[in-house]
Amino acid sequence: MTMQRILLVDDEPAFQRLCGAWLSSLGYQVMMAATAEQVHALTAQHSFDLVLLDLALPPSFTPEEGLALLPGLAPAPVVVMTGHADRELALRAIGLGAWDFLPKPLDPDLLRVVVERALTKRRLEHELAQWRARGLQDDSTMGLIGASADLGELRSLIRRIAPTDVPVMITGPSGTGKELVARALHGHGKRAGKPFVAVHCGAIPGELFESELFGHCKGSFTGADRDRIGLIAAADGGTLFLDEVGEMPLAMQVKLLRFLQSSSFFAIGGRAEQRVDVRIVAATNRDLAAMIDEKTFRDDLFYRLKGIGLRTTALAERAEDVAPIAQAIAAAADGAKRLAAPALEWVGARAWPGNVRQLQHCVQTAAALAGKQSEITVDDLALACGEVAAPAQQAEAGPLEAQLAVLEKRLIVAALEESRHNHTHAARQLGISRVGLLNKMRRHGLR
Ligand SMILES: Nc1ncnc2c1ncn2[C@@H]1O[C@H](COP(=O)(O)OP(=O)(O)OP(=O)(O)O)[C@@H](O)[C@H]1O
Ligand SMILES: [Mg+2]
Repeated sequence: MTMQRILLVDDEPAFQRLCGAWLSSLGYQVMMAATAEQVHALTAQHSFDLVLLDLALPPSFTPEEGLALLPGLAPAPVVVMTGHADRELALRAIGLGAWDFLPKPLDPDLLRVVVERALTKRRLEHELAQWRARGLQDDSTMGLIGASADLGELRSLIRRIAPTDVPVMITGPSGTGKELVARALHGHGKRAGKPFVAVHCGAIPGELFESELFGHCKGSFTGADRDRIGLIAAADGGTLFLDEVGEMPLAMQVKLLRFLQSSSFFAIGGRAEQRVDVRIVAATNRDLAAMIDEKTFRDDLFYRLKGIGLRTTALAERAEDVAPIAQAIAAAADGAKRLAAPALEWVGARAWPGNVRQLQHCVQTAAALAGKQSEITVDDLALACGEVAAPAQQAEAGPLEAQLAVLEKRLIVAALEESRHNHTHAARQLGISRVGLLNKMRRHGLR
């Protein structure tokens, strides 16, 4: 198990030393900060399982300085320490999200108990979120969520084809789960414990393709300063997934065909023929038949790869899958959220031309917008999908103010996403202080 990491925030060197040594002797990794600035710098770089926070920090030594830190320290539980056992201050701190309170001078045994209790809380929260996410992805769905007849048929075909070595060609629009189907075929077959290697044919530059697929020997071309195995060899015993196979350059198609016919190949610059045992699964959203007519895809390769054809369908053709998929995405988001009934209706009423990928992006962004609230609302979704906020939200303020508020919220969300929810970085990007950002986030319901 990895060591649990505690951030100890206190400006007295003697206390830091003693308390730090005690916590280290209990088996925790301890990092120290003496000022708010140091807290920001450390939390920007590390995540902590627990924070012990003295509220009186320099330069002002007023509790306000320490209290202002509290919102930014979540989700780590914070135990607040104060020199004078001030009940009111303790209650304020707890109101702002602190988990517990310890009077100074600290009793080491009490410190140990409080620390253990806070860490247990943190671990249980984490495990609960994981279980929730996993519960929605039990094995019977094969990772493919949804109750439509299309998906049911797809699952039963996967179950039948997975144990065989027949090549499979998966076709379907973008974002409909082709890669998910390929992984399900691998995961439910006899090769499950072996590698699943995806080759994203559209992303490999033409001149590197051969080396990527077959590997090369040292000195075989400029820059080949050592032997390198290719993706085909890496997949030995498992599945080679040729994604976006329609994007493969013609010259490469010939070489791939030769490999498929013989199950053997030569690395670039290599003399020894190499044999591998791989199952081939390919996918495309292109019309390969039309490409064959245009002579941009080889028909002999097509017939080799085709084997059994599986088709994923657009979300618009299976509207009943939208709600369960959206709910599963929300449950897997930070804080294990859910969509309330009107929000489910809202997602169900949309067309989703970008299919599950677009839905996923929208619900994940909406989950981030919902902040600490456990339910995702129509407002969050509308904002996340770039639609104007619902009229109800605009009703109170004049139109300009409402629009500015929407714009501000959108910019904050974008900055938070870009900085992966690092408040310090997001604030810098927006040109405001961290406390300013936290206040704005609270105003917009983002925390
Ligand atoms: N039925 C489903 N249940 C849960 N998640 C799904 C489902 N279908 C797709 N997804 C998710 O949607 C995203 C897009 O799926 P995937 O990458 O498999 O699509 P694709 O068809 O390969 O798209 P592209 O053609 O753009 O590569 C993935 O994150 C995937 O996990
Ligand atoms: Mg894909």
